[in-house]
Amino acid sequence: MSTDVVLPVTERGPEAGTAVLTVNSQAHALRIEPRVSLLDALREHLGLTGSKKGCDQGTCGACTVWVDGRRVLACLTLAVTCEGREVTTIEGLAAADGELHPDHRGRR
Ligand code: FES
Repeated sequence: MSTDVVLPVTERGPEAGTAVLTVNSQAHALRIEPRVSLLDALREHLGLTGSKKGCDQGTCGACTVWVDGRRVLACLTLAVTCEGREVTTIEGLAAADGELHPDHRGRR
C-alpha cells in the first residue's frame, strides 16, 4: 500500500483567474489569463514599467527581473508560474529614501 501524498493539481483554463504575485515584497492579487507573461503582468497590470519589452522573444534581456533571487526573462515567463515566489523588479532596487538604482535611472 502506497502512502504517498498527492497534492491536487491546480487546473487553469483559458479564462482569467486570480493569481497572487509578490512583487518587490508586496502581494498583489491579479485577475489575469494563464497565458499572460510576467512582463505584461508587471507592466500592464501593476504599472511597473522599469522592465522593458524589447524583442519579446528572449534575446535582448530588456525585460530581466529576479524571481527568488535568480535572473529570468519576464517575456518568456508565465505570470502564474510565479505564484508563491518573490519577484523583484528594477523598481524594487530603489533605496528606502526613493533614490533610484543607477540602472533604473538609465531605463526611464
Ligand atoms: S523583451 Fe527581449 S528578452 Fe524579454
